[in-house]
Amino acid sequence: MISKPAILLTLPATLVAAAFAALAIPSRAQQRPTHNVPASAHGGTVVMLCDGTTSIEIKNLKPGQTMSHAEAQSVADALMAKWQREHPNEHWQIAQASPPAEASPGAVASSNAAQPSQTQSAVNAPAAAPSLTVQQGDTYASFQPRDYKVWKAETDKFVAEGKRIFHDDKALGSTIGVSCDMCHPDAANTHPETYPKYQVQLQKVALLRDMIDWCIENPIKGKALDPNDPKLRALEAYVYAQRKGVPLDYGRH
Ligand code: HEC
Repeated sequence: MISKPAILLTLPATLVAAAFAALAIPSRAQQRPTHNVPASAHGGTVVMLCDGTTSIEIKNLKPGQTMSHAEAQSVADALMAKWQREHPNEHWQIAQASPPAEASPGAVASSNAAQPSQTQSAVNAPAAAPSLTVQQGDTYASFQPRDYKVWKAETDKFVAEGKRIFHDDKALGSTIGVSCDMCHPDAANTHPETYPKYQVQLQKVALLRDMIDWCIENPIKGKALDPNDPKLRALEAYVYAQRKGVPLDYGRH
């Protein structure tokens, strides 16, 4: 019996190539703006900031070479110092603003307080646990404290993965050893609550993930990720999570 993959393998190579070419057309049609990084004047590596304007050349970093963590941090610091000189009125906030106290996920259930409460789990239980007889969200199911616990664990895991990547130059695919936290400790100054908004660098209304991708290209000097790449999704989750409780203010500059 011939399995499906075997059939695919027997297709003429030209046909397969044509199919791939056809697939490539839509992505080429919506090509994104690229960083206009100046050519190196001294044979080193030019690193550009997320602003698409500020750049410095690291003279002794030859193409293909990477830096140690300490060297990368000093390059990030030098870029930020240059940016601050060029933007004396911009306040780069190093410590992350602490978000307001967590809201209870079961807050919506409080109107059911008069209903007899079924169970009261110790872990992440809504103030008034949803009664089995009251449907919560889904037409066909009532959710139990255990469900909230599982959802929270999954979400926290996703955010933790984003945190790991944000702090890890290799996971970000940096070719020079720079990671996001070197300029955005605890995701400070990333302002996720202001998205979507028009970003001049990108020449379009950007979602947070578009801006993250842009910053992966420079100053990280990595390869922009597919919008559905689990790494990009996790990074986005982490950046948003750092601003929990901050009011959404899309479009703000
Ligand atoms: C070398 C320092 C540096 C590094 C490293 C860096 N950034 Fe930035 N980032 C900046 C600066 C400076 C700006 C502000 C640009 C502007 O105002 O135009 C910025 C802007 C941003 C913004 C937009 C903030 C806003 O107000 O809308 C996001 C989001 C962001 N960076 C995410 C990241 C992520 C994610 C990484 C890692 C992939 C990263 N940055 C790496 C310096 C850095």
